[in-house]
Amino acid sequence: MAIKLTWFGHGCWLIETAEHKLLLDPFLNDSPTAPIKAEKVSPDFILVSHGHFDHVADVETIAKASGALVIAIFEVAQWFGNKGLGNTLGMNIGGSTKQPFGKLTMTQALHSSSLPDGSYGGEPAGFVLEAEGKRIYFACDTGLFSDMQLIGKSGLDLAVLPIGDLFTMGPHDSLAATKLLKPKQVLPAHYNTWPPIEQDAAEWANLIRGGSDAEPIVLNPGATHQL
Ligand code: NI
Ligand code: MN
Repeated sequence: MAIKLTWFGHGCWLIETAEHKLLLDPFLNDSPTAPIKAEKVSPDFILVSHGHFDHVADVETIAKASGALVIAIFEVAQWFGNKGLGNTLGMNIGGSTKQPFGKLTMTQALHSSSLPDGSYGGEPAGFVLEAEGKRIYFACDTGLFSDMQLIGKSGLDLAVLPIGDLFTMGPHDSLAATKLLKPKQVLPAHYNTWPPIEQDAAEWANLIRGGSDAEPIVLNPGATHQL
């Protein structure tokens, strides 16, 4: 079966396997580029990379309406549990969990992670998703780190990398990341949401094409990539 990724703008992705819907870092109602409102999304699982508002803004609304299992680092999962979400799974970096959709491993990310009310959010994270025979790395909010080569070691069909710069790595470091990860395809995220993280995606695609063996895939918010 194929796996489908729809970009909801910024760091938010809808991931559809044959039987399950996963939503990563829901930031919809207050995002200037989101093509859909939180009320319209009904996932089975919500993955949260870290506590910043542009990654957790709609978690509570969507989780309460859908009953989705919220998967996050321990501190973030506990914070949502304290807000009354009964269905959470806390994990930590290097750990993995087998779920009905496949296997999810939490990776390190070089970033920060406080929650919107100032609570400690633990460490920021990324995810490796193994589902439908594919292996996909969501770097989420991070700077470049050389251990990305370890994440790529078992082979990646796709890497989703931030390219916005300022808060995360920018286009040039995303090329360096692509060389370490060696994915078959690479998708950009976390850019063009606001002026400080504006990037030219066509220029980025040329950079990746010229400097790596990966195929760059550029989506507009609302568009879907199937693999
Ligand atoms: Ni962040
Ligand atoms: Mn962010």
